[in-house]
Amino acid sequence: MRHGKTISNSALSRAVSAAAVVACAALFAGCAGPPADPAWVPPTWPAGDSIVTVLAGDETGSGSDPVPAADTAGLIEGRVRNDAVGLQARYVEMTGAPRFNRLVRGVLDGAIESEVARSGVAGFTPEVFDVRAGLSDRGCVPDVSERPAAELLADPAFGPATGEGTAVACELTLGFGPVLGVMFRTVTGSSAGVEADEFVLLLVNTETDETVEGKAMWTHEAAGQLWQHSVEEMRREAGALSTAPLAAPDDVQLELATKALNTVRFGAEGFEFTLPAGLSAAELVGLGVEATHAPLKVSVADLPDGWLTPQGQALFAQADTPFAGVPAWHGSHSVDCDFVACVAVTYDDGPSAFTAELLDILSAQESPATFFMMGTAVPGRADVVARAAAEGHELASHSMTHPDLTGLSPSAARREIVRAGKAISDITGQPVTMYRPPYGAVNDRVLKKIGLPAILWSIDTLDWEDPGEAELVKRAVDAATPGDIILFHDTHADTVNAADDVLAGLKERGFTPVTVTQLFGGSVPHGRVFAR
Ligand code: NI
Repeated sequence: MRHGKTISNSALSRAVSAAAVVACAALFAGCAGPPADPAWVPPTWPAGDSIVTVLAGDETGSGSDPVPAADTAGLIEGRVRNDAVGLQARYVEMTGAPRFNRLVRGVLDGAIESEVARSGVAGFTPEVFDVRAGLSDRGCVPDVSERPAAELLADPAFGPATGEGTAVACELTLGFGPVLGVMFRTVTGSSAGVEADEFVLLLVNTETDETVEGKAMWTHEAAGQLWQHSVEEMRREAGALSTAPLAAPDDVQLELATKALNTVRFGAEGFEFTLPAGLSAAELVGLGVEATHAPLKVSVADLPDGWLTPQGQALFAQADTPFAGVPAWHGSHSVDCDFVACVAVTYDDGPSAFTAELLDILSAQESPATFFMMGTAVPGRADVVARAAAEGHELASHSMTHPDLTGLSPSAARREIVRAGKAISDITGQPVTMYRPPYGAVNDRVLKKIGLPAILWSIDTLDWEDPGEAELVKRAVDAATPGDIILFHDTHADTVNAADDVLAGLKERGFTPVTVTQLFGGSVPHGRVFAR
């Protein structure tokens, strides 16, 4: 980093004389011509006094992502659409980063609160949509900061369904050392006009979860100087010869530059900032240059030292270090089923020869599931059991030998459940806190004796009838409503072959697959549990 260049006195005097010459030539026919000396040439215009370069469309790296996708594969990609309140939001969360996730949620909650107030509905309830709703495309998108606000609001991939309400979108803007920068843009309005266009930058340390907001990174001077340099550069591009100092920006102009600071990202030429539409200055108006009607992208090769707070300096001290990447996805992350439409996909009777492949699919879909395992099947597949637990899936008891528990004494029924639970927890080191009675058969005496939640289901795919993959997908995806518990068996090839389409189909409708414990926010009710 270095200080911005200052304009020297000699440069200024050259500028003034050059301006005088051109003004003469252009405007006042008949004023004195150039000196008679044939060797005379006009003084060279001082170039590059501005530290800002205004980027043309083809220089802005459209479509490129400044953070390699491979390094952010572990991010938990989210998308919420809610037509009742007029909101659509795309966001990311990170495994093992509760502080970052809370700040992300803060951005989303802000949007929800204002839209709940505006729409007049009683509160926010998660919504799901038809099978072709397209909601499996989630998370951040490149170039969100560059899109005109009205365009973002009207785009069904970002904006509210009617075009009226709020769009929240995010962009991964910075990745260096342990730091990931995620910019959130919140646009509110309707086809009649954009009412608000806010930018929040979160910089998270992917190793420590320490998260800094962009606004804590920049000094008060930074916005003013970014504005000054940008206008100066535009003035030069417009052919102005004046280097007279610009009048200071008013509050509206300063706000534009403050927003632009939150869009900072790595570009080909250094740091790139996007100034929202509306950039204007008296000096530009004097040149016939109107206020910008589209976002303007500018580049700064080196950030002047005075722009960064000590916190910002500490962060950017690692700017030259390759990005360390984000932690891998883990199924046990916290999910708020009052915010996203949850559905619990469950698999009984395993582990089987198909379970490892199912775990691959769940991992690729970043979807946690709950496995109700048979105690007798566990010892032969300890590796699969350990892996399922390590990846954050929920493991629970489905008895040792699959008897009808209502046909046993309560004590014998309890032994069936507890012994299978112990076989699982001996491998995983984690307690087993729930069970699924074989055939769903349980009575009050058995319930009481076992004393754990008995997890039943609200959608039975009847996969043991081998109805075929397509039918299985239909049975699970078409029927699901928020809070459902779906019953499958990972002992059937078709069930595992259909799993990818089932999970993708659920997401397409707006669902977030969760474990049973996540479905209940960490505390599963006792007794018979069919759904949330
Ligand atoms: Ni069973």
